[in-house]
Amino acid sequence: MSRPLGWTRLVLTVGVLGSVPVAAHSVQIPALPGSPRVPVLPLKEAPPRAALPAPEPIGDSIYPALGQRGLDVLHYDVTLHIDRPGTRGLRGVALLTLTSTRPLDTVSLDFLGPTVQDVRWNGRPVPWQQDETAAKLRLSPPTPLRPGQEAQVTVRYAGQAGVRQDQELGLDLGWVPVTDTAGRPLSNYTLSEPDGTRTFLPVNDHPSDPATFTLHVTVPRGYIVAASGLRGTERVVDEGWEYTFDQAQPIPTYALGLQVNHFQRVDSPAVPVGPGGAAVLRRDYFPDDTTDAVRRPYAQVGEMLRVLSGWFGPFPFPVHGAAVITPRVPALETATLLTMPVASSFERVIVHESAHQWFGDTVVLGDWADVWLNEGFATYAELLWLEAQGDDPAGIAATWYERLRDQGSRPLVATSEAQLFDQSAYLRGALALHALRAAVGDPAFRGFLQGYVREFNRRPVRTPDLLGFAARSLGPVAAMVLRTWVESPTLPPLPALRAPR
Ligand code: ARG
Ligand code: ZN
Repeated sequence: MSRPLGWTRLVLTVGVLGSVPVAAHSVQIPALPGSPRVPVLPLKEAPPRAALPAPEPIGDSIYPALGQRGLDVLHYDVTLHIDRPGTRGLRGVALLTLTSTRPLDTVSLDFLGPTVQDVRWNGRPVPWQQDETAAKLRLSPPTPLRPGQEAQVTVRYAGQAGVRQDQELGLDLGWVPVTDTAGRPLSNYTLSEPDGTRTFLPVNDHPSDPATFTLHVTVPRGYIVAASGLRGTERVVDEGWEYTFDQAQPIPTYALGLQVNHFQRVDSPAVPVGPGGAAVLRRDYFPDDTTDAVRRPYAQVGEMLRVLSGWFGPFPFPVHGAAVITPRVPALETATLLTMPVASSFERVIVHESAHQWFGDTVVLGDWADVWLNEGFATYAELLWLEAQGDDPAGIAATWYERLRDQGSRPLVATSEAQLFDQSAYLRGALALHALRAAVGDPAFRGFLQGYVREFNRRPVRTPDLLGFAARSLGPVAAMVLRTWVESPTLPPLPALRAPR
């Protein structure tokens, strides 16, 4: 993925680009404190807001409206001002570097968030429309974006973050405020799977378009920002503190983690599990009053990464850890920085979310119907971890099997939103891998897992891709075992692992 142009370069480009000397006509509006200064046209010269045609979405089988077909966002450079943590209020500037795989005469981003104030294409105002009904921000480039051509879109917005309710969970997704019982604002967290990131950032909100992120987040003095990626500069600005993070490996939009809280950061020794034994930095964030019992399992993360990388190959990011949050919500595999509720702060869940760093965050989904490719692999990692601690893998598999037999299961490709995170995605998905392991033995299974991660690194994967890879790497008999677990309307028999020799 190519690096985005820096702001300096962008501002210079604006002056010399088209026939109109834009910069000469422009006024310097006071930029958001701490954010780059951009020349802005006087309002009368800004193109009118317009009703723009709705381009074709990506065509996800569960969420058909998400994303734009052909659009490829390479990088999101995001400046956010969180003036009052614990509320939905925010101001932001998102600078997207994008390209396409087909000619696009309208660019359409998923956005449920605050009011858009200004939209630019390579620094110049263009017609745009914030369609709240469709939850899209559309803009019209001066000339259609050609395949392979790169452009920069700047979106300035302010107001209240959008609301995306998850009916299955009965929870709000995206940028979520936390208050105390009296309603006093406390903190914010993100919980964005599958499509919550659009509540605070204009995005091509589909896992098949992973991108890199740079975040510059300003919060009042005393608050700490934790986010996906490597920590960059931290500096004092007029309104408080500005934190910068660089997520330099592409990740799905839902895997972007961002937290504002009164945290204590705990650094631990780096773990040599990156490519070629490179050091992976370790840091966890705990709310100030976190008990020792909640903190304790995070001391095992280094060991977890050793065990998991022994099966899956090198850890794909330069840093890993967790941010603990107090609300009762599911844990989430936010890249490099697990979102870990206090109530989920157990080894098994930490291992599960850590395994998603390979499966979900690096090998990304091509369609939400295939989410078992995330959940089945992450659940199987729990067994691999417990086995490394001396537990009997056959016993774990048998427990999963009984639950599926008692409560029923389905073929693995989901056909409805209600199925996405059901027991079949997790347990039958995991048992499909267990069956494959039983059929081919540990060395071949390990090679298969590592080959799959290499082959589909940042390449959207669907279930037939996995089956095809199994056939290529392990042969047709093994692939048929996996396929039976994927497709059979009934639960296949529980496989027995061969005794290790
Ligand atoms: N991917 C999360 C996990 O680690 C689950 C999130 C659950 N629910 C949801 N609607 N996203 O298993
Ligand atoms: Zn999971």
